[in-house]
Amino acid sequence: MSKFYKITVSKVDKLTPDSVVITFDIPNKYIAAFAYKAGQHVIVRSMINGEDVRRTYSFCSAPGAADFRISVRHVKGGVFSAYANTKLKAGDTLELSQPLGTFTLIPKQAPKSGAVYVGIAAGSGITPILSMIRAALTANNNSRFFLYYGNRDVEHTMFFKELAALKNQYMHRLSVQLFLTRQSVDDPFWGGRIDTDKITHLHKNVFGSLGVDGYFLCGPKAMIDGARQSLIAAGEPEANIHSELFFADGTASRGTETAQTSQTPLAALAKAKINIIMDGREVQVEYREEHGSILEAALSAGLDVSFSCKGGVCATCRAKVTKGEVEMGLNYGLEPEEIDEGFVLSCQSVPLSDDVTISYDE
Ligand code: FES
Repeated sequence: MSKFYKITVSKVDKLTPDSVVITFDIPNKYIAAFAYKAGQHVIVRSMINGEDVRRTYSFCSAPGAADFRISVRHVKGGVFSAYANTKLKAGDTLELSQPLGTFTLIPKQAPKSGAVYVGIAAGSGITPILSMIRAALTANNNSRFFLYYGNRDVEHTMFFKELAALKNQYMHRLSVQLFLTRQSVDDPFWGGRIDTDKITHLHKNVFGSLGVDGYFLCGPKAMIDGARQSLIAAGEPEANIHSELFFADGTASRGTETAQTSQTPLAALAKAKINIIMDGREVQVEYREEHGSILEAALSAGLDVSFSCKGGVCATCRAKVTKGEVEMGLNYGLEPEEIDEGFVLSCQSVPLSDDVTISYDE
């Protein structure tokens, strides 16, 4: 269950023509509750025109920093992103969940030689990666970070100035390379989208021989799939490649404004008993076909289960199947090893056996 905290917005700064950075004033009594890892996100809940709107946004600030910041890019038809970009102001209050998410970079302290990380991002996918860069480079004076970041042009490149400042600060340890799709560039290699050929080339000629400790991919599906494919083909272990999907052609923050439900019909039972373990209690709910997902069955039964996007992206609704069989539709939020361990996204899962137990406590 997500507990929400009423938090005051201390600043709203324009970042690009279509995005803002929101800084929160976290009261001292909640500082421990809001300790987060680089790459994590919060659910932002607000009532807009009488609608309970929930969206997930990653921190762009770094763990341990005095400020708590998220960025929001305005997407067409986006209820919260429009509100944040046009109406939200300092002094307003939003409700935030505690930090969530497993797309994280935990900096390696141990090796004297430092660690090597590669971030590949497009559009607003830079948000969690920015937090990771700061975390990685401050944790170990020898660590290095290679960032490859795709955008349409410099004007719409989120955190362009902040990245330039970081580059100055960590001149020999941070490499930032932009790919631009709608602005001319001197070397055609850096023009157009990030694709498999480019990643293959960079792996072979830049970072592949350095023993990269972690790859972090964040952006639209095509970019993530292409980069992952190139890295695996180049011999990188899958366990070293972490990804998080951002939607709206790489522009929306954490997908929640545009996520689609699965087009593939799932072979659910018309009816099933679902035992739900949550907050140490086990509650039985009835799943009916019209619910469409285990999450909806739980919500219909009045359980306060955590969710945000309902589109298979944010992983807020993650639960572990401990008995029975379920089928999951879309999954953009779980890593392969989490699936192997039995985790599912409950907003995308339907029962295949009559007696299913899932736990939100794992
Ligand atoms: S609510 Fe976001 S993945 Fe299920």
